[in-house]
Amino acid sequence: MVQGTTSKEAHNESLTVRDERTGKTYTIPIVENSIPATAFKKIVAPSKKGEREENETERGLRVLDKGFLNTAVIRSQITYIDGEAGILRYRGIPIEQLAVNSSYLECAYLLIYGNLPTRPHFNTFKAEVMHHSIMHHDSEELFASFRYDSHPMAILTSAFAALGSYYAEANPSLAGQGLYTRGTPESLAIMDKQIYRLLGKATTMAAMAYRIRQGRAFVTPPVGLSYTGSFLYQMDHLGEEGYKPNPILEKALDVLFLLHADHELNASCTTVLQTGSSLVDPYSAVAAGCASLYGPLHGGANEAVIRMLISIGPPDNVPRFLEQVKKKERVLSGFGHRVYKTSDPRSFIVRKTADEVFALTGTDPLLQTAMRLHDEAMKDDYFVSRKLAPNVDFWSGLIYRAMGFPMDFFPVLFAVPRVAGWLAHWRQMMLQEGGVKIWRPRQIYVGPEKRDFVPIEERKDEGKQPRERPTEVYHSGQSKRYYLAEYTGKAKL
Ligand SMILES: CC(C)(COP(=O)(O)OP(=O)(O)OC[C@H]1O[C@@H](n2cnc3c(N)ncnc32)[C@H](O)[C@@H]1OP(=O)(O)O)[C@@H](O)C(=O)NCCC(=O)NCCS
Repeated sequence: MVQGTTSKEAHNESLTVRDERTGKTYTIPIVENSIPATAFKKIVAPSKKGEREENETERGLRVLDKGFLNTAVIRSQITYIDGEAGILRYRGIPIEQLAVNSSYLECAYLLIYGNLPTRPHFNTFKAEVMHHSIMHHDSEELFASFRYDSHPMAILTSAFAALGSYYAEANPSLAGQGLYTRGTPESLAIMDKQIYRLLGKATTMAAMAYRIRQGRAFVTPPVGLSYTGSFLYQMDHLGEEGYKPNPILEKALDVLFLLHADHELNASCTTVLQTGSSLVDPYSAVAAGCASLYGPLHGGANEAVIRMLISIGPPDNVPRFLEQVKKKERVLSGFGHRVYKTSDPRSFIVRKTADEVFALTGTDPLLQTAMRLHDEAMKDDYFVSRKLAPNVDFWSGLIYRAMGFPMDFFPVLFAVPRVAGWLAHWRQMMLQEGGVKIWRPRQIYVGPEKRDFVPIEERKDEGKQPRERPTEVYHSGQSKRYYLAEYTGKAKL
């Protein structure tokens, strides 16, 4: 049993833990309302008779937290979320103020370097990012090697990883493992150059992933456009002279990019840090983050909202759908959040942006269904009592759809702006006090105890569940003729 008390003295707060197995009491310091998990390693007990040696009882108490529900893995100065109050701040500045007054690139600067830039600093940063948007000509072959129906996130993830292969001087495996952790002016210059390259080329690679599926030739990034203007140009330009994307759509995309730039330690950001903790190059770390974001529980929810709205159909079908949700037969995509227990503050801004886009593009019939769904869910006790409210994805998919993006491109529109957040956290970790420790979590081993090897002739089939043996699978693409053929080395299937 563990009993906890905290003293009122902020400078001397502690948790008193009594281990009922031994009767011993331990004092664990509380700093910034957190306790060091390693302090529990000192809590040891003699192994009981018959206890599994794998429990390692004599080597200290372990802390089990499947899915990081209450484990802080880093001290961070970047983003603050209060999920109960619906607060999101980048470096202390409320997201609502940034959405109205700032831009995506300015927020990227804020997230990465800690403060809003002065005009000269911003001009330098923007010029560097935009200058580094051009891809090496050879990389076109990589994009062209994908099949016409490849998911754009598969292309983008591969492209981030491949991009690192162009810069040997930026690879700690080749240039020395202290490349990014030294904090010297030379080290910071190498780090920032990779940041410019990753931010600059993220839109170019996303646009290339878009165009390859359309069978369109690639476009050189334009000069003189904004970050999102350049992105739209690279996707849509077909050779017309003086082509400029629509400013309302360019601005709307910039606001969406700003809102998606960071969200503290979500799955993809944690993946970037976990991968980066081995001191691998930032291209590989960002590729890993991109792969994590690809999953439907993370970057795919906005697409799920549209599929859900299409399946519901006209607004009159909403009550029936909500009854199915309440019976747990369906999920109301775009509602609920692990952190927010009230409306996601970004959802209000996205809703407003949606109106501006719809005024230009015309409304989508799905909007009526979405509005009815929103209004009915917000007053229904099932959702109210579970604190389920709209998240950012509830409305963003409708904007992307109105802007004419294919549904499987929605996660790309999330991943591209999130590069800023990933890099901000990666840079912070590389430069943190005390250096970087590789992220190596513990496990609770519950598998077989020590047993001896058995020769194959003497083995019994011990697997009781289907999952305990390999599944026999259907081999598509091989005909009956092939199976009836004889050849050397043919294995009996
Ligand atoms: C985001 C999400 C994964 C968070 O999950 P979580 O923090 O683990 O929350 P839980 O699964 O514990 O949900 C708590 C309760 O609310 C219900 N619930 C949560 N989200 C729900 C949703 N979108 N629709 C219907 N019921 C939902 C759960 O069934 C559970 O009900 P119960 O207490 O009767 O068992 C979840 O809300 C969800 O799947 N939402 C839809 C997908 C989505 O929009 N994701 C984007 C997030 S930005």
